[in-house]
Amino acid sequence: VRTSRTLPTAAVVPAAGRGERLGPGAPKALRQVGGEPLLVHAVRGLWRSGAVDLVVVAAPPGTASDVANLLAEAVPGVEARVVEGAAARQQSVAAALAALDSDTDVVLVHDAARAFTPPDVVRRVVQAVRAGAPAVVPVVPVTDTIKQVGDDDAVQATVDRTRLRAVQTPQGFRRDVLERAHREHAAAATDDAALVEALGEKVAVVDGSDEAFKVTRPLDLVLAEALLRSRAD
Ligand code: C5P
Repeated sequence: VRTSRTLPTAAVVPAAGRGERLGPGAPKALRQVGGEPLLVHAVRGLWRSGAVDLVVVAAPPGTASDVANLLAEAVPGVEARVVEGAAARQQSVAAALAALDSDTDVVLVHDAARAFTPPDVVRRVVQAVRAGAPAVVPVVPVTDTIKQVGDDDAVQATVDRTRLRAVQTPQGFRRDVLERAHREHAAAATDDAALVEALGEKVAVVDGSDEAFKVTRPLDLVLAEALLRSRAD
């Protein structure tokens, strides 16, 4: 469902990371999987969900016009804007937020690196925000046992796994809440929901998907190629 005129939904896509954990090469969002950059897969998935009206990409510095051309060619009909990202993820998100239209009410923040996120996850997040949640994150159960380790390299505690969730993107927000969170909580955070939590606002969870994994390490590229092949079958 394309959003109505009165509730436009924009997706902000931070894509300016170097991707150092992937090893040497192009910035992560521009690395190829299945013959196309991760960013193209990510933007195509958002657009095909039918749940967003505009995509704003924070591109690696110096690549904005190339990225705009790339997206126009690879994702026909996409309504996209490209700004330059910055040294920290949060600054990249802030740069993209500054490029939104004044009538945008719902904002998703989606890592370019979660390039294969199924469209139903995108729709679930948007629907939960439209249903009244100020902030929404997709989550999956944690499969490993998680232990807290001290400076002495010894285990301090085993965390109760049943209460833990791994958090994915897209994270969805009422635009006013997300902008206030970015204004008032500049401290470094690894996701946007953490800034909203710092405001004291409730963050709701919806089901994520294993396929929304973040391409981070070399093995993730192997998984991504295999996933694309299995979807093509
Ligand atoms: O580093 P991490 O994997 O957490 O990055 C998540 C997303 O944030 C990636 O899509 C990456 O391109 C983006 N990012 C960014 N600007 C940065 C760092 C990361 O847009 N300075």
